[in-house]
Amino acid sequence: MTEEQFWTEFNGIKQELMDKAEENAKTFWTREDLTHEEVFNSIIPRDWHEIAYVSFIGTLLQKYWREYDRNLVTALCKHLWDEANHYEIISRVLENHGYEPPTDVPEPSQAWEDLHWEALEKDSTCAIAVWNVSETSTTPQMDIVIENCRRIGLDDLARVYEKIKKDEDFHCKLGVNLLERHMKTEEQRKNAIWGARKLRDHMFKLYDSIYAIETVQS
Ligand SMILES: [Fe+2]
Ligand SMILES: [Fe+2]
Repeated sequence: MTEEQFWTEFNGIKQELMDKAEENAKTFWTREDLTHEEVFNSIIPRDWHEIAYVSFIGTLLQKYWREYDRNLVTALCKHLWDEANHYEIISRVLENHGYEPPTDVPEPSQAWEDLHWEALEKDSTCAIAVWNVSETSTTPQMDIVIENCRRIGLDDLARVYEKIKKDEDFHCKLGVNLLERHMKTEEQRKNAIWGARKLRDHMFKLYDSIYAIETVQS
């Protein structure tokens, strides 16, 4: 697989997943009778993803930091801190509304979680490719989430997602920078595209689970 072929397929997967996430999110979040309970139940797996990234990036740094430019190590530490902060600020809102923040992987996120650990075992850029696809897929939902949280009286959650939206921009660009800088071999490209394809399949199922369109439309 050439570099060009990699980027064409990789960007195509991200676009496909962004379209899927946007479609599911719109159907879920714009429903007239959307309840706070449904919202918080959809937020809990997403809150888990925040703390899961603290473990993923921590492990990535421990295993592979020597392969990266120093400035990218610093940037990854900021990324790790942001994810811990996202877990904290979402969890605080959950608790204020009487919900327990997740401390273990929720069932719908298990396959997503397992793939991240598998990718971390393969090589450093495979892991980065997997989470770059995952993180990028959440970006088109941000405005939908913020707007509709406000619509149904969840201003506290809207404010949290305004903050997260800004940070995600940085995370998505950092992932692409790391791949452009450090993914050099055919083997790395093969692993990275393997991870991206698998992630796409898991995320399709995940979005159908947390934004369950079928039950919503009936
Ligand atoms: Fe995050
Ligand atoms: Fe992030």
